[in-house]
Amino acid sequence: MLLAPSILASDFTDLKSEIKKIEEGGADLIHMDIMDGHFVPNISYGPDIVRQISEITDMPFDVHLMIENPERYIEKFITKNTEYICVHEEASVHLNRLIDQIKSAGARAGVAINPSTPVVMLDEVLRDVDMVLVMAVNPGFGGQKFLDLSYNKIKALDEKRKHMDLGFKIAVDGGVTLDNAEKLAASGSDIFVMGTYIFKAEDVRAHTEHVKKQLVKYKQC
Ligand code: DX5
Ligand code: ZN
Repeated sequence: MLLAPSILASDFTDLKSEIKKIEEGGADLIHMDIMDGHFVPNISYGPDIVRQISEITDMPFDVHLMIENPERYIEKFITKNTEYICVHEEASVHLNRLIDQIKSAGARAGVAINPSTPVVMLDEVLRDVDMVLVMAVNPGFGGQKFLDLSYNKIKALDEKRKHMDLGFKIAVDGGVTLDNAEKLAASGSDIFVMGTYIFKAEDVRAHTEHVKKQLVKYKQC
């Protein structure tokens, strides 16, 4: 059970201390939402910021590319911290090649699917991926409402994973809170991306610690 706070919801004027709070609270990964204003209707930040953040922390990065033509940018997101690079199925016409590119660049490969994309679209790549990221909102913005259709998609992925005897992680992203995390864990999620729920807390460090402790309990159920 891994907690991956998304810094999209953090105070960018005080990023260093925001990261310190989630690190001290026991978060596992920093989720980085990269948006290009084309694949999604919003623009966030790019590789230079990711690189600068790698200079101030040892936490591993989970880089979520919500961009068109992701193959042009993979290598730019490699830093000493980059653990996962996650691309959208909908943004690639040569997904197998892109997965190979991510691995050759030195990261683990993730593939994300939008709420309207069925799990079956990933059948031919499941053997090659390290993570599948299920979007529980239409990507582009933090703070949106979780879509219930996500549970069945996560269950279906978990069943395929067991049936095919594979080890990829299942991440869920968008509207995730402690109100839905237990059901998400029971459905098969391993990585919980949380933006607003972590960074809008009054005491981010203490809240991160609390959330992580709860997630670990769910695993034991
Ligand atoms: C949405 C992003 C999410 C988002 C999560 O496009 O991919 O990672 O920042 O934020 P919350 O948890 O606020 O929905
Ligand atoms: Zn994300």
